Amino acid sequence: MARRRDLWTGAAPGANPFALPRGPLGWVAGRVLARTNRTQNAEVAGFLRALGGTSVLEVGHGPGILVELLARQYDTTVTGVDPSTEMVRMARGRNAEAVRAGRVRLWRASAEATGCDDASMDLVVSVNTVAMWPFLDEGLAEFQRVLRPGGRAVVTWHRYPPRFALTSEELDTVEAAMRKRFGAAERDRLPSSVVLSAAR
Ligand SMILES: C[S@@+](CC[C@H](N)C(=O)[O-])C[C@H]1O[C@@H](n2cnc3c(N)ncnc32)[C@H](O)[C@@H]1O
Repeated sequence: MARRRDLWTGAAPGANPFALPRGPLGWVAGRVLARTNRTQNAEVAGFLRALGGTSVLEVGHGPGILVELLARQYDTTVTGVDPSTEMVRMARGRNAEAVRAGRVRLWRASAEATGCDDASMDLVVSVNTVAMWPFLDEGLAEFQRVLRPGGRAVVTWHRYPPRFALTSEELDTVEAAMRKRFGAAERDRLPSSVVLSAAR
């Protein structure tokens, strides 16, 4: 298939096991993500709590740490999607009891096509995945589609270590794309993440 020129970072997942965990190495990457991103995911859960809302979709849930925190935080069903078969399996394992109880539902899908119904979510969040989306605006269009009017799109990224942070140009690109799609966007800095958010 011809490589599309509009890949927004030029850094499509390729062979990086953290960007799109696959196979045995992907499983190890998932274990590492669960440990190294726990504090950041807890911080994002706190940010979401302050926004209110009852229905939440996490896009690119990886090993399922934030899903686990959100399932404790919301009375309603928490939805998560990730294009990695290994990450869906790992997140289902981590949240097995909540999945069995119908409080968490997880399936394989990506930012561009989540499989969720139109206007079905109060919050759509994605942590450390936006650089892996091949097409930035297609992902944001999908967030807009599944959000209810007044719902909020929340896209976050690591601040540390600096080699994992997005450049200021990349953050500006995401913020500008959110502003274009939603009419306005905000940038917040949490201790370990940059948070870009916009209301539908
Ligand atoms: C660095 S991991 C972050 C996982 C988790 N959110 C965390 O903070 O630990 C990147 C995740 O993005 C997922 N991903 C890759 N391409 C994606 C896409 N186009 N849409 C949504 N998620 C994607 C990967 O499968 C992987 O689980």
